[in-house]
Amino acid sequence: MKLEIKDLHVSAEDKEIVKGVNLSINEGELHVIMGPNGSGKTTLAKAIMGHPELSVTKGDILADGKSIVNTKVNDRAKLGIFLQFQNPVEVEGLGLMNFLNAARGSIHSDMQFKDFMSEVKNSTKKLSIKEELVGRSLNFGFSGGEKKKIEMLQMAVLKPKLAILDEPDSGLDIDAVKTVAENINELRQKNKMGILLITHYSRILNYMEPQFIHIMKDGVIKKDGGKDLINEVETKGYKL
Ligand SMILES: Nc1ncnc2c1ncn2[C@@H]1O[C@H](COP(=O)(O)OP(=O)(O)O)[C@@H](O)[C@H]1O
Ligand SMILES: [Mg+2]
Repeated sequence: MKLEIKDLHVSAEDKEIVKGVNLSINEGELHVIMGPNGSGKTTLAKAIMGHPELSVTKGDILADGKSIVNTKVNDRAKLGIFLQFQNPVEVEGLGLMNFLNAARGSIHSDMQFKDFMSEVKNSTKKLSIKEELVGRSLNFGFSGGEKKKIEMLQMAVLKPKLAILDEPDSGLDIDAVKTVAENINELRQKNKMGILLITHYSRILNYMEPQFIHIMKDGVIKKDGGKDLINEVETKGYKL
């Protein structure tokens, strides 16, 4: 999928947070957004997915050339867009497997149940997710790191064409960062998945091949560059 973001302005509760972002992600490309807290990274991520608490006041988001700003969240998901939440919600009473299976049914109705089960089994193992978690309520009482891994499990089942990953590495221990990075890489290779990855840390990027780095500040992308920009941020911070 090709995603194009054109002069995007996004507000929450009448406050403008994203103030004119331009970004283009081609099939299979890995783009990284870094930037200080409160710069609007999560708001941008949620706006691409169509989060109902946000309104796009100007600009456009195109998926394979077609505007999706008026497309509902579930229809964006069916197009192949996936959002991994920075702070995944806990839903007591909603079984993780029921949730995964319902999502699989809506997005990949042609996927056989046994293939779904083996995908869950494989990915649970690859991600070192404790088996007992799969039998519990969605994220309920899970640790921060466990929640992040469950998001990755969802991605593995749903096989999106474009994954927006909002700090997939935060709250993970060193080994888990590597595991998660490898999982993302594998899906990227297998499915030509495009990625928009938001992170504060260069560690996860050591295991990946980020092609495009963007620094977001005060609601806009202040600087674009290649891998070198990561080192620049590591040494100088965001004073660009
Ligand atoms: N639903 C909301 N209502 C009001 N303000 C919000 C809302 N969501 C985010 N904000 C504000 O927008 C700014 C950017 O937030 P966010 O997009 O989460 O930044 P980042 O992910 O870069 O840290 C923050 O000041 C935050 O408090
Ligand atoms: Mg954020």
